[in-house]
Amino acid sequence: MLVESCPQQTLQHVTAARQRGLLTGCVPTMGALHQGHVSLMQRARSECGYVTATIFVNPTQFGPQEDFSKYPRTLQSDLQLCEQAGVDLVFTPQTDQMYAADAETVVQVGRLTTLLEGAHRPGHFDGVTTVVAKLLMITQPQKAYFGQKDYQQQLVVRRMVRDLNIPVEIVTCPIIRESDGLAMSSRNRYLTAEERQTATALSGALRLAERLCSQSGAVPSVVEQQMQQMLLQTPGLVLQYAVLADPETLQPLPERVPSGTSCVALIAARVGTTRLIDNLLLVFG
Ligand code: PAJ
Repeated sequence: MLVESCPQQTLQHVTAARQRGLLTGCVPTMGALHQGHVSLMQRARSECGYVTATIFVNPTQFGPQEDFSKYPRTLQSDLQLCEQAGVDLVFTPQTDQMYAADAETVVQVGRLTTLLEGAHRPGHFDGVTTVVAKLLMITQPQKAYFGQKDYQQQLVVRRMVRDLNIPVEIVTCPIIRESDGLAMSSRNRYLTAEERQTATALSGALRLAERLCSQSGAVPSVVEQQMQQMLLQTPGLVLQYAVLADPETLQPLPERVPSGTSCVALIAARVGTTRLIDNLLLVFG
Protein backbone atom coordinates (compact mmCIF):
# COMPACT_ATOMS: atom_id res chain seq x y z
CA MET A 1 0.00 0.00 0.00
CA LEU A 2 1.31 3.42 -0.98
CA VAL A 3 0.84 6.42 1.29
CA GLU A 4 1.10 9.76 -0.46
CA SER A 5 0.57 13.33 0.71
CA CYS A 6 1.33 15.08 -2.58
CA PRO A 7 -1.64 15.72 -4.93
CA GLN A 8 0.49 15.60 -8.11
CA GLN A 9 2.14 12.29 -7.12
CA THR A 10 -1.28 10.84 -6.26
CA LEU A 11 -2.66 11.86 -9.65
CA GLN A 12 0.35 10.20 -11.31
CA HIS A 13 -0.17 6.91 -9.42
CA VAL A 14 -3.86 6.81 -10.32
CA THR A 15 -3.24 7.80 -13.93
CA ALA A 16 -0.75 4.93 -14.24
CA ALA A 17 -3.35 2.52 -12.82
CA ARG A 18 -5.95 3.76 -15.33
CA GLN A 19 -3.43 3.34 -18.14
CA ARG A 20 -3.01 -0.27 -17.01
CA GLY A 21 -6.75 -0.64 -17.61
CA LEU A 22 -7.74 -0.85 -13.93
CA LEU A 23 -11.14 0.42 -12.78
CA THR A 24 -10.41 3.13 -10.19
CA GLY A 25 -12.35 3.61 -6.97
CA CYS A 26 -12.07 6.25 -4.26
CA VAL A 27 -13.26 6.35 -0.63
CA PRO A 28 -13.03 9.90 0.79
CA THR A 29 -12.74 10.08 4.60
CA MET A 30 -11.59 12.35 7.39
CA GLY A 31 -9.83 9.48 9.17
CA ALA A 32 -10.51 8.23 12.73
CA LEU A 33 -11.59 5.19 10.78
CA HIS A 34 -14.12 2.63 12.04
CA GLN A 35 -15.99 -0.31 10.55
CA GLY A 36 -18.35 2.06 8.68
CA HIS A 37 -15.38 3.42 6.72
CA VAL A 38 -13.94 -0.07 6.34
CA SER A 39 -17.20 -1.29 4.77
CA LEU A 40 -16.84 1.40 2.08
CA MET A 41 -13.25 0.31 1.39
CA GLN A 42 -14.24 -3.34 1.19
CA ARG A 43 -17.04 -2.51 -1.24
CA ALA A 44 -14.59 -0.49 -3.36
CA ARG A 45 -12.07 -3.35 -3.20
CA SER A 46 -14.71 -5.81 -4.44
CA GLU A 47 -15.71 -3.61 -7.38
CA CYS A 48 -12.50 -1.88 -8.47
CA GLY A 49 -9.02 -2.82 -9.63
CA TYR A 50 -7.34 0.15 -7.94
CA VAL A 51 -8.66 1.61 -4.67
CA THR A 52 -7.63 4.98 -3.26
CA ALA A 53 -8.71 6.06 0.23
CA THR A 54 -8.31 9.68 1.21
CA ILE A 55 -7.73 10.83 4.78
CA PHE A 56 -8.03 14.58 5.25
CA VAL A 57 -9.68 16.50 8.08
CA ASN A 58 -11.07 19.24 5.88
CA PRO A 59 -11.06 22.58 7.72
CA THR A 60 -13.47 24.29 5.31
CA GLN A 61 -16.43 22.09 6.26
CA PHE A 62 -16.23 22.88 10.00
CA GLY A 63 -17.99 25.94 11.42
CA PRO A 64 -16.07 28.33 13.70
CA GLN A 65 -17.70 26.82 16.84
CA GLU A 66 -17.26 23.21 15.64
CA ASP A 67 -14.77 20.49 16.53
CA PHE A 68 -12.08 20.90 13.83
CA SER A 69 -9.18 21.29 16.26
CA LYS A 70 -10.26 18.39 18.49
CA TYR A 71 -11.43 16.09 15.66
CA PRO A 72 -9.72 12.71 16.36
CA ARG A 73 -6.54 12.14 14.34
CA THR A 74 -5.42 8.50 14.43
CA LEU A 75 -3.33 8.14 11.28
CA GLN A 76 -1.29 5.08 12.30
CA SER A 77 -4.29 2.88 13.11
CA ASP A 78 -6.15 4.34 10.11
CA LEU A 79 -3.36 3.16 7.81
CA GLN A 80 -3.56 -0.32 9.33
CA LEU A 81 -7.29 -0.51 8.63
CA CYS A 82 -6.73 0.71 5.04
CA GLU A 83 -4.05 -1.93 4.54
CA GLN A 84 -6.29 -4.69 5.95
CA ALA A 85 -9.15 -3.57 3.68
CA GLY A 86 -6.86 -3.96 0.66
CA VAL A 87 -6.53 -0.28 -0.25
CA ASP A 88 -3.83 0.37 -2.89
CA LEU A 89 -3.13 4.04 -2.20
CA VAL A 90 -3.87 6.35 0.74
CA PHE A 91 -3.89 10.05 -0.10
CA THR A 92 -3.31 11.99 3.10
CA PRO A 93 -2.43 15.60 2.32
CA GLN A 94 -1.57 18.45 4.67
CA THR A 95 -3.93 21.42 4.60
CA ASP A 96 -1.49 23.61 2.64
CA GLN A 97 -1.19 20.88 0.00
CA MET A 98 -4.97 20.98 -0.52
CA TYR A 99 -5.60 24.72 -0.23
CA ALA A 100 -3.36 27.45 -1.58
CA ALA A 101 -3.19 30.42 0.80
CA ASP A 102 -4.97 32.53 -1.83
CA ALA A 103 -7.53 29.90 -2.91
CA GLU A 104 -10.84 31.59 -3.76
CA THR A 105 -12.90 28.96 -5.57
CA VAL A 106 -15.88 27.30 -3.92
CA VAL A 107 -18.16 24.62 -5.36
CA GLN A 108 -21.69 25.30 -4.18
CA VAL A 109 -24.83 23.20 -4.62
CA GLY A 110 -28.04 25.23 -4.23
CA ARG A 111 -31.33 24.54 -2.45
CA LEU A 112 -30.46 21.03 -1.32
CA THR A 113 -27.72 22.45 0.92
CA THR A 114 -30.01 24.98 2.64
CA LEU A 115 -32.11 22.31 4.40
CA LEU A 116 -31.55 20.21 7.56
CA GLU A 117 -27.76 19.84 8.04
CA GLY A 118 -27.23 22.91 5.85
CA ALA A 119 -29.60 24.96 8.02
CA HIS A 120 -27.86 23.88 11.24
CA ARG A 121 -24.31 24.06 9.85
CA PRO A 122 -24.05 27.14 7.60
CA GLY A 123 -21.29 26.76 5.00
CA HIS A 124 -20.73 23.09 5.83
CA PHE A 125 -21.78 21.70 2.46
CA ASP A 126 -19.76 24.32 0.54
CA GLY A 127 -16.72 22.92 2.31
CA VAL A 128 -17.77 19.34 1.56
CA THR A 129 -18.50 19.86 -2.14
CA THR A 130 -15.35 21.90 -2.68
CA VAL A 131 -13.09 19.31 -1.07
CA VAL A 132 -14.89 16.35 -2.68
CA ALA A 133 -14.60 17.98 -6.12
CA LYS A 134 -10.86 18.44 -5.49
CA LEU A 135 -10.42 14.87 -4.18
CA LEU A 136 -12.21 13.51 -7.26
CA MET A 137 -9.91 15.53 -9.55
CA ILE A 138 -6.82 14.28 -7.72
CA THR A 139 -7.83 10.61 -7.39
CA GLN A 140 -9.64 10.26 -10.75
CA PRO A 141 -12.07 7.54 -9.63
CA GLN A 142 -14.58 5.89 -11.93
CA LYS A 143 -16.52 5.00 -8.77
CA ALA A 144 -16.60 6.93 -5.48
CA TYR A 145 -18.02 5.48 -2.28
CA PHE A 146 -20.09 7.35 0.30
CA GLY A 147 -22.08 6.21 3.33
CA GLN A 148 -25.82 6.52 3.76
CA LYS A 149 -24.91 7.61 7.31
CA ASP A 150 -24.49 11.12 5.91
CA TYR A 151 -27.67 10.92 3.88
CA GLN A 152 -27.83 14.55 2.80
CA GLN A 153 -24.11 14.59 1.98
CA GLN A 154 -24.43 11.73 -0.52
CA LEU A 155 -27.43 13.46 -2.14
CA VAL A 156 -25.50 16.74 -2.39
CA VAL A 157 -22.45 14.98 -3.86
CA ARG A 158 -24.65 13.16 -6.39
CA ARG A 159 -26.20 16.50 -7.40
CA MET A 160 -22.79 18.16 -7.78
CA VAL A 161 -21.46 15.29 -9.90
CA ARG A 162 -24.51 15.37 -12.15
CA ASP A 163 -24.62 19.15 -12.47
CA LEU A 164 -20.89 19.47 -13.25
CA ASN A 165 -20.72 16.35 -15.49
CA ILE A 166 -17.98 14.86 -13.32
CA PRO A 167 -17.33 11.42 -14.87
CA VAL A 168 -17.72 9.32 -11.70
CA GLU A 169 -20.40 6.96 -10.42
CA ILE A 170 -21.42 7.68 -6.81
CA VAL A 171 -22.07 4.49 -4.82
CA THR A 172 -23.98 4.84 -1.53
CA CYS A 173 -23.28 2.12 1.05
CA PRO A 174 -25.47 1.04 4.01
CA ILE A 175 -25.05 2.40 7.54
CA ILE A 176 -22.91 0.19 9.79
CA ARG A 177 -24.20 0.15 13.37
CA GLU A 178 -23.00 -0.96 16.78
CA SER A 179 -24.86 -3.99 18.18
CA ASP A 180 -27.22 -1.70 20.15
CA GLY A 181 -28.16 0.25 17.01
CA LEU A 182 -25.94 3.33 17.37
CA ALA A 183 -24.64 4.32 13.94
CA MET A 184 -20.85 4.16 13.90
CA SER A 185 -19.22 7.58 13.77
CA SER A 186 -15.78 9.03 14.40
CA ARG A 187 -17.51 11.40 16.84
CA ASN A 188 -18.84 8.54 19.02
CA ARG A 189 -15.46 8.47 20.73
CA TYR A 190 -16.27 11.84 22.31
CA LEU A 191 -19.17 10.25 24.27
CA THR A 192 -18.90 9.39 27.97
CA ALA A 193 -20.34 6.01 29.05
CA GLU A 194 -23.58 7.69 30.11
CA GLU A 195 -23.83 9.72 26.89
CA ARG A 196 -23.10 6.60 24.87
CA GLN A 197 -26.22 5.05 26.42
CA THR A 198 -28.32 8.18 25.74
CA ALA A 199 -27.14 8.17 22.11
CA THR A 200 -29.03 4.93 21.40
CA ALA A 201 -32.22 7.05 21.47
CA LEU A 202 -31.53 8.17 17.87
CA SER A 203 -31.71 4.71 16.33
CA GLY A 204 -34.53 3.87 18.78
CA ALA A 205 -36.60 6.76 17.41
CA LEU A 206 -35.88 5.65 13.84
CA ARG A 207 -37.09 2.15 14.63
CA LEU A 208 -40.22 3.64 16.19
CA ALA A 209 -40.82 5.64 12.99
CA GLU A 210 -40.31 2.47 10.94
CA ARG A 211 -42.93 0.59 13.00
CA LEU A 212 -45.44 3.43 12.79
CA CYS A 213 -44.92 3.98 9.04
CA SER A 214 -45.48 0.31 8.25
CA GLN A 215 -49.04 0.47 9.64
CA SER A 216 -51.68 1.06 6.98
CA GLY A 217 -53.03 4.62 6.96
CA ALA A 218 -49.96 6.02 8.74
CA VAL A 219 -49.86 9.83 8.63
CA PRO A 220 -46.40 11.43 8.13
CA SER A 221 -46.92 14.33 10.54
CA VAL A 222 -48.10 11.95 13.27
CA VAL A 223 -45.06 9.69 12.81
CA GLU A 224 -42.80 12.77 13.01
CA GLN A 225 -44.50 13.93 16.21
CA GLN A 226 -44.06 10.52 17.84
CA MET A 227 -40.39 10.44 16.90
CA GLN A 228 -39.88 13.97 18.22
CA GLN A 229 -41.77 13.22 21.43
CA MET A 230 -39.60 10.21 22.15
CA LEU A 231 -36.41 12.22 21.63
CA LEU A 232 -37.64 15.28 23.55
CA GLN A 233 -38.35 13.00 26.51
CA THR A 234 -34.82 11.57 26.50
CA PRO A 235 -32.81 13.17 29.33
CA GLY A 236 -29.41 14.47 28.24
CA LEU A 237 -30.39 14.75 24.58
CA VAL A 238 -31.05 18.06 22.79
CA LEU A 239 -33.05 17.53 19.62
CA GLN A 240 -32.17 19.58 16.53
CA TYR A 241 -34.52 17.93 14.04
CA ALA A 242 -36.41 14.68 13.55
CA VAL A 243 -38.33 14.68 10.27
CA LEU A 244 -39.66 12.53 7.48
CA ALA A 245 -38.68 13.78 4.05
CA ASP A 246 -38.75 12.92 0.37
CA PRO A 247 -35.69 10.69 -0.18
CA GLU A 248 -34.58 12.60 -3.32
CA THR A 249 -35.45 16.24 -2.61
CA LEU A 250 -35.52 16.20 1.23
CA GLN A 251 -38.74 18.24 1.03
CA PRO A 252 -41.43 17.57 3.67
CA LEU A 253 -44.03 14.93 2.83
CA PRO A 254 -47.63 15.82 1.97
CA GLU A 255 -50.31 15.42 4.68
CA ARG A 256 -51.44 12.07 3.23
CA VAL A 257 -49.29 9.59 1.30
CA PRO A 258 -50.34 6.47 -0.60
CA SER A 259 -49.29 3.05 0.61
CA GLY A 260 -45.87 2.14 -0.85
CA THR A 261 -44.50 5.72 -0.65
CA SER A 262 -40.79 5.82 0.26
CA CYS A 263 -39.34 8.40 2.61
CA VAL A 264 -36.29 8.99 4.74
CA ALA A 265 -36.43 9.66 8.48
CA LEU A 266 -33.59 11.99 9.49
CA ILE A 267 -32.48 12.94 13.00
CA ALA A 268 -29.86 15.32 14.40
CA ALA A 269 -29.32 15.79 18.13
CA ARG A 270 -26.74 16.86 20.63
CA VAL A 271 -25.72 14.49 23.39
CA GLY A 272 -23.56 16.49 25.76
CA THR A 273 -21.29 18.48 23.44
CA THR A 274 -21.35 15.84 20.70
CA ARG A 275 -23.55 16.33 17.65
CA LEU A 276 -24.95 13.08 16.24
CA ILE A 277 -26.95 12.31 13.08
CA ASP A 278 -28.75 9.20 11.89
CA ASN A 279 -31.35 8.21 9.30
CA LEU A 280 -33.43 5.34 7.97
CA LEU A 281 -35.20 4.73 4.66
CA LEU A 282 -38.87 3.84 5.21
CA VAL A 283 -41.86 2.73 3.18
CA PHE A 284 -45.45 3.61 4.13
CA GLY A 285 -47.68 0.60 4.73
P1 PAJ B 1 -16.20 10.96 7.31
O1 PAJ B 1 -17.14 11.48 8.36
O2 PAJ B 1 -14.86 10.47 7.71
O3 PAJ B 1 -16.94 9.83 6.52
C1 PAJ B 1 -16.35 9.25 5.38
C2 PAJ B 1 -17.39 8.38 4.70
O4 PAJ B 1 -17.74 7.30 5.58
C3 PAJ B 1 -18.69 9.14 4.41
O5 PAJ B 1 -19.17 8.81 3.11
C4 PAJ B 1 -19.62 8.65 5.49
O6 PAJ B 1 -21.00 8.69 5.14
C5 PAJ B 1 -19.15 7.21 5.65
N1 PAJ B 1 -19.56 6.67 6.96
C6 PAJ B 1 -19.38 7.23 8.19
N2 PAJ B 1 -19.95 6.47 9.15
C7 PAJ B 1 -20.51 5.41 8.52
C8 PAJ B 1 -21.25 4.27 8.95
N3 PAJ B 1 -21.55 4.08 10.24
N4 PAJ B 1 -21.68 3.38 8.03
C9 PAJ B 1 -21.39 3.58 6.70
N5 PAJ B 1 -20.70 4.63 6.23
C10 PAJ B 1 -20.26 5.53 7.11
O7 PAJ B 1 -18.05 12.36 5.40
C11 PAJ B 1 -16.91 12.78 5.51
O8 PAJ B 1 -15.92 12.12 6.23
C12 PAJ B 1 -16.44 14.06 4.84
O9 PAJ B 1 -17.51 14.95 4.79
C13 PAJ B 1 -15.83 13.83 3.43
C14 PAJ B 1 -16.85 13.25 2.47
C15 PAJ B 1 -14.60 12.92 3.52
C16 PAJ B 1 -15.37 15.20 2.86
O10 PAJ B 1 -14.44 15.82 3.70
